Amino acid sequence: MQQPPHIPIMVDAVVNHLLTDKNGIYLDGTTGFGGHASAIMEKLNPTGTYIGLDADPYALEYAKKRLSVHAAFCALHHVNYRYFPEVLASMEIPQVTGLFFDIGISSYQIDSGDRGFSFQSDSPLDMRFDTSSGESTRHFLNSSEFKEIGMVIRNYGEERNWKRITRAIVNAASKGEMETTFHLKAAVESVTHQNFETKTLARVFQGIRIHVNGELDSLEMALESSIDCLKPGGRIGVISFHSLEDRIVKRFFKKQAITCTCSREIPVCVCDTKPNLKLVSRKAIVADAEEVAINPRSRSAKFRVAERV
Ligand SMILES: C[S@@+](CC[C@H](N)C(=O)[O-])C[C@H]1O[C@@H](n2cnc3c(N)ncnc32)[C@H](O)[C@@H]1O
Repeated sequence: MQQPPHIPIMVDAVVNHLLTDKNGIYLDGTTGFGGHASAIMEKLNPTGTYIGLDADPYALEYAKKRLSVHAAFCALHHVNYRYFPEVLASMEIPQVTGLFFDIGISSYQIDSGDRGFSFQSDSPLDMRFDTSSGESTRHFLNSSEFKEIGMVIRNYGEERNWKRITRAIVNAASKGEMETTFHLKAAVESVTHQNFETKTLARVFQGIRIHVNGELDSLEMALESSIDCLKPGGRIGVISFHSLEDRIVKRFFKKQAITCTCSREIPVCVCDTKPNLKLVSRKAIVADAEEVAINPRSRSAKFRVAERV
């Protein structure tokens, strides 16, 4: 098999922190090109199970071939990972040993010039992981008000110049010039200083992608479901690339790991709070310098792990 189109991040850390039982059942919500999946399956005994989900059918097709060499049982599903409890229910699996989410976009999706993820090549404005459902970027930018587009660019893109950029987008849309990635690029560039163009474009494209795919909602829904679906001693690991996503994971783990809710004035704990999770590592795990040198994309990745109590 030729070189996979995506280099998985912090593979050793993922396998070492996630795998607690070689005969266990592991659900990976973002199989992508099967990099982490392959490393996980390699460690599993033939009695172990890997369940992989992805919204992108092309990635899953690739992963299917790549993972067929492993002995453990493998089931792949084309579905948004926010619905992972339904997948488990359909397989009559009440709880799993490990849950893993490597959220966001794969290098392949960014690099493929025809899906609207990249401002480096001209293509229809889509940006959906799953083109069979939901609203495309083209539809969003042509049918939404200034307020809604502005909120996305400001909050998800974390772009300070959001007002001028949004005005330029709305203006271009009103002239029928918001159909392609280069239309969006031109609108952004028309109000951005040349020195900041690349970073601004990256933030605007990322913010819109997060909105169009409902990425933060999917993450929150999956985290909420994780407690009931994990066996005691089982682990959940999440790799994120965006500060908003990392904040959601960090806060969720922290909240679920609270051991006492008594007021500070009470000298002895009387609340009997039972935590759902314990943190496996207090700080987020990050890629080391060697990995960042080989794969610069790993620089912004944060990996957090917690264990079901
Ligand atoms: C960073 S890549 C995962 C790469 C993978 N770990 C590997 O080793 O190849 C993220 C993947 O998640 C998928 N994805 C993003 N959001 C999703 C969602 N809500 N449901 C299912 N898949 C999703 C994307 O299609 C993409 O293939």
